[in-house]
Amino acid sequence: MRVLALAGDGIGREIMPEALRIFAIVQGRCGVRAELVEGAIGTGPLMDEGNPFPAATETEARNADAVLFGAAGDPSLDHLGPKRPDSAIGALRKLLNLYGLVREYRIADAQLAMSPLRPVRARSTDFAIVREISGDVYAAQPKGQRIAEDGPFPGEVEGFDTMRYTESEVRRIAHLGFRTARARSGRLVSADKSNVLATSRLWQRVVAEVAAEYPDVALTHQLADNTAMQLVTDPASYDTILTANLFGDILSDVASALTGSIGLVASVVFNETGQVYYEPGHGSALDIAGQDKANPIAMIRCVALMLRHSFDRPDLASTVEQAIDEVLAAGLRTAEIHVDGTTLVSCSAMGKAIADRLEALL
Ligand code: NAI
Ligand code: MG
Repeated sequence: MRVLALAGDGIGREIMPEALRIFAIVQGRCGVRAELVEGAIGTGPLMDEGNPFPAATETEARNADAVLFGAAGDPSLDHLGPKRPDSAIGALRKLLNLYGLVREYRIADAQLAMSPLRPVRARSTDFAIVREISGDVYAAQPKGQRIAEDGPFPGEVEGFDTMRYTESEVRRIAHLGFRTARARSGRLVSADKSNVLATSRLWQRVVAEVAAEYPDVALTHQLADNTAMQLVTDPASYDTILTANLFGDILSDVASALTGSIGLVASVVFNETGQVYYEPGHGSALDIAGQDKANPIAMIRCVALMLRHSFDRPDLASTVEQAIDEVLAAGLRTAEIHVDGTTLVSCSAMGKAIADRLEALL
């Protein structure tokens, strides 16, 4: 197994070493065999060689069995347009043909006080969102601006996008949704807007067809706005949510907020070749970068997800997750989740505490 680690920008450089510290412990102790390669992406190679996604990284990404990605992006360089550092994210996703992003949201009892929800609502929250990430209104053409020919204000400039999915695209993500639900507790909610969108009506039909292959999974169709509401009022009722790119973008930010910090949430991203990509749910967080303040838990959870999905070691994944839960239960908190009565720790101290717990558990 070849693992490519791309720390990237901002806090990526601080959280990746903590994730690799965890991976090194597992490698040393448990017979997990992997070759670890570190590559450059984002602002570093942009400054050094004028390309945020250099050819050497492209080659390493092609050859890797699993990619651990930190973050890329610097809003002060957004004026660079197609060469901006975070353009590397899209380029990497495209290169690897990534289409399905699965993000798990869990509010452990030790996390209840971090959630903006009252504990009675937040308790037992543990669900996954399976989001299609290659298509939809973000990707489909045509899009742009033109002079409106009709509508309420003809002659004005109008912006337009195209929402589009093909049957195969929906089928592919539906299978990932059903497989994810099957590996969890077997309940799948497919969120769409079939009341108003033709794309969603196709989505609903194809998902229902795929359901026939998964008789053990209970499928419900739900309107995505209702899903947004119920995520807030009754998040514990969900197990797996399957949705398109646009709705998934919004629902996953709602879900992240429920956990109390974006620094706790990790994603696994699939293509059709079995090569898998892992990233935290957040970006480069330049407002706190270089201060050893970032929460490394999302990045460390990526290692747990990698052990589960790429190394087929769910036992080790669960042990890493247990170490995280125990450290949170002991009251350690990075700055963004620190409250009275808990212990404020740095990024590296949090990583070290989780590593120590893991060594004790193994
Ligand atoms: P962000 O996720 O980097 O930060 C949003 C807020 O959350 C900030 O206040 C930040 O301090 C906080 N935060 C994020 N991660 C944290 C952590 N681990 N611990 C503690 N606090 C944390 O999103 P933002 O500011 O919108 O974007 C910054 C840059 O990152 C942009 O250039 C954007 O394009 C890029 N970005 C990259 C992503 C990626 O690499 N996958 C995803 C999202 C944004
Ligand atoms: Mg988003």
